[in-house]
Amino acid sequence: MNWREDLKEIRTELDNSNITDAAALEAFRIKFLGSKNIFKPVFEQMKQVPAEEKKEFGQKINELKNRAEEVFQLAASAHTVGKATEIPDLSLPATPGTIGSRHPISLVMDKIVGIFEKIGFQVAEEREIEDDWHNFTALNTPDDHPARDMQDTFYLQGRSDRVLRTHTSSVQARIMTTHAPPIRILAPGRVFRNETISARSHCQFHQVEGLYIDKGVSMADLKQTLLFFAREMFGPSVKIRLRPSYFPFTEPSAEMDIYWGLKDETDHRITKGTGWLEILGCGMVDPAVLKNCGLDPEVYSGFAFGMGIERQAMLLYKIPDIRYYFENDLRFLRQFKSA
Ligand code: PHE
Repeated sequence: MNWREDLKEIRTELDNSNITDAAALEAFRIKFLGSKNIFKPVFEQMKQVPAEEKKEFGQKINELKNRAEEVFQLAASAHTVGKATEIPDLSLPATPGTIGSRHPISLVMDKIVGIFEKIGFQVAEEREIEDDWHNFTALNTPDDHPARDMQDTFYLQGRSDRVLRTHTSSVQARIMTTHAPPIRILAPGRVFRNETISARSHCQFHQVEGLYIDKGVSMADLKQTLLFFAREMFGPSVKIRLRPSYFPFTEPSAEMDIYWGLKDETDHRITKGTGWLEILGCGMVDPAVLKNCGLDPEVYSGFAFGMGIERQAMLLYKIPDIRYYFENDLRFLRQFKSA
């Protein structure tokens, strides 16, 4: 027996191996690395190898084995060959996919929408770029009203008749001109005002508008609807108060505050130390607005309200600064993972 000859033969076979496809790769694996590999019978001669040659024998055979392993790895990673033989290990635990979190503004808007859907309101989404008529004129906002001031309204460059809507009330005009009463809609969305950005105000924020038009709608319906909402949103013991106010498109008009209390520092800051927070403007739709939109104020009446989302979310989630909503900071956003 001559182990040197045997190993030389293996070496030649190894060097001449031509792995061109997946089948050849597998054949190579079985031959050189499998459980009945080509080295086995040679290895079994170990006992007959003279003691002084044993060390060399061991080294040589190991070299060849390593070489075979190398050739195999190289061929397997040459992807044309490798791919076909890759069998995924189905027993491995799955890599958990990362689930994104929902934005607190979306969470609060969805909650509000859910509450009003229970009492028959339907979602109506509309454009963010509006014309002057739907945002102002139809809503009884005279040309010289301060809300039209360049400081509050973003106009599209070179288009004095196109604005970024300053409130979701523009959807009122969109719906009243295209739908016949009874109308019961809810319009969530983004609005824009040219305001200095600070911890309390931003140039973009979100509102949810509500509009109900039918025969015989009264202020009592408005108040009861808002009370229902406040209890669903903030809990059954929440208090509300309606303060007389002014909006060009409602008459009479009011602002609604909720009593949240002063449980901690955020409550103090957001409610300016009073425990009360103004969350919406509302009122009976002004007859002039109904007329502008082609509805007969002698037949129909209705109420409308518009609420801000950011401040409600600040209270509910104890968010101290309105700017956090728009900075896309993952450390902020990830906190709403399970919400
Ligand atoms: N659009 C008003 C605002 O942005 C809110 C409002 C809506 C008031 C509907 C009355 C009726 O402040």
